[in-house]
Amino acid sequence: MPLSRALAVLCGVLLCASGLFAVSGDFCDSSLCQNGGTCLISQDNDVYCLCPEGFTGLVCSETEKGPCSPNPCYNDGKCQVTENTQRGDIFTQYICQCSLGYSGTHCEISTSSPKATYPGQAIAEVLKKKLSGASFPPVNETIYYNLEGDYLSTTAVPIPVPNPGLSNSLASSCTSTLGMEGGAIANSQISASSVYVGFLGVQRWGPELARLHSSGLVNAWTASDYDSKPWIQVNLLRKMRVSGVITQGASRAGRAEYLKTFKVAYSLDGLKFKFIQNASGSGDKVFWGNMDNNGLKVNMFSPSLEAQYIRLYPVSCYRACTLRFELLGCELNGCSEPLGLKNNSIPDSHMTASSTYKTWNLRAFGWYPHYGRLDMQGKINAWTAQSNSNKEWLQVDLCTQRHVTGIITQGARDFGQVQYVASYKVAHSNDGVEWTIYKEQGTDKVFLGNSDNNSHKKNIFETPIVARYVRVLPVSWHKRITLRLELLGC
Ligand SMILES: *[C@@H]1O[C@H](CO)[C@@H](O)[C@H](O)[C@H]1NC(C)=O
Ligand SMILES: *[C@@H]1O[C@H](CO)[C@@H](O)[C@H](O)[C@H]1NC(C)=O
Ligand SMILES: *[C@@H]1O[C@H](CO)[C@@H](O)[C@H](O)[C@H]1NC(C)=O
Ligand SMILES: *[C@@H]1O[C@H](CO)[C@@H](O)[C@H](O)[C@H]1NC(C)=O
Repeated sequence: MPLSRALAVLCGVLLCASGLFAVSGDFCDSSLCQNGGTCLISQDNDVYCLCPEGFTGLVCSETEKGPCSPNPCYNDGKCQVTENTQRGDIFTQYICQCSLGYSGTHCEISTSSPKATYPGQAIAEVLKKKLSGASFPPVNETIYYNLEGDYLSTTAVPIPVPNPGLSNSLASSCTSTLGMEGGAIANSQISASSVYVGFLGVQRWGPELARLHSSGLVNAWTASDYDSKPWIQVNLLRKMRVSGVITQGASRAGRAEYLKTFKVAYSLDGLKFKFIQNASGSGDKVFWGNMDNNGLKVNMFSPSLEAQYIRLYPVSCYRACTLRFELLGCELNGCSEPLGLKNNSIPDSHMTASSTYKTWNLRAFGWYPHYGRLDMQGKINAWTAQSNSNKEWLQVDLCTQRHVTGIITQGARDFGQVQYVASYKVAHSNDGVEWTIYKEQGTDKVFLGNSDNNSHKKNIFETPIVARYVRVLPVSWHKRITLRLELLGC
């Protein structure tokens, strides 16, 4: 293909110009790839782009047929794919950019009266003026954000909420944390109706920050003031059982903001959502939320939900709809339990590798395969391959044939140097001799791996692997091939 040759030539120039890129399996200049694709150099110095989900083609320039075709937006609304939320044949996330005079998710509402662009605008603008004073004068009013449509100026009345015992709830099964806090839920799986951007556009309180216990100055999701029906959504990538939610507020400019009450909606396709109903079944259930910026509130769903998409809809908020949260649940078929790398139930001897990197060549400082367990701690806390080559692999012997439905990878740090596997393939075997590389749509599947020293990156096998031995085959990496790993299945 002429395009790939052009790329190769271009990269050849880069290689000549700079020895920096000369390591195979390493990164090249990602500006060669469009739409956020990652440029990789393969073993034989070929260049290719690892495209984010939703994009395809040699340089990630082609959009995969997604939620926007056919156009779901009415009245000439422009459909825009929001982020990497495609999985298999399931497409979901898009936004309709409405032409003038229309609004609504699908631009179905005609807003012929231009004076009130959103409910409660007048009050909101007065408050905004007050709040935008440079010195932030203490303001006793709080914005009570009422999703039925109105901003009301009121004083905060903390709602006394009996907290259902976390320990009791968690004693039952199906209450694993689904990965908001741990990172197994990727940023691209989290989306929201709107985002608050503060301090002259510098602080973006985006949905990807809505992770329980997230820290920093900007550490939560906040809905835009102009959003009269905000929501935040998690795409779990496949149907799961969701048994509850833990919510937490946050502080902005030193003052608490949180959801006082909220509703929960769920969906299988990301398009049709249902709200959890109240006890009498005659209306949406309203859950009690938080009372301060940091406390945790647990709400369990009874019965639990079977859904791929979960949305939290704030109903009333203290100062602003600001949220950090975690979802609780499990796989539907109960087949995505950790298979025992993190908790050591798979013994050290069952973890092997093509080679082991030893710091200063000392045996005592070997980054052995059995260190390659998720969340391993210590100075040496991961497996590192001796060489930077895609001949390297890390192998797990599961003792017996198991269903393997997913994999979580993690990088590590060696004396401050961040190291990780950025993409990889997976092979499996029943005898440890004959290996089959996991394929999707007939080609070897390259999984997107890590991009830092600590986050969990979870990938799911569309077709579960049934095997005794599983190998991770690094395709690209940063600095050295370094892995911490968990396999999921049953
Ligand atoms: C603001 O709140 C403080 C503490 O609740 C109270 O003492 C004060 O009187 C209030 N100020 C106004 C202007 O309402
Ligand atoms: C359920 O919601 C409906 C509609 O809001 C309300 O009339 C009804 O009282 C609620 N029932 C319970 C048990 O909360
Ligand atoms: C480790 O995890 C496996 C699978 O979830 C479980 O069966 C086993 O009991 C756990 N072992 C320990 C020691 O916690
Ligand atoms: C490695 O990960 C930790 C934990 O997320 C983070 O605090 C640290 O900054 C990271 N180190 C580097 C060098 O990126």
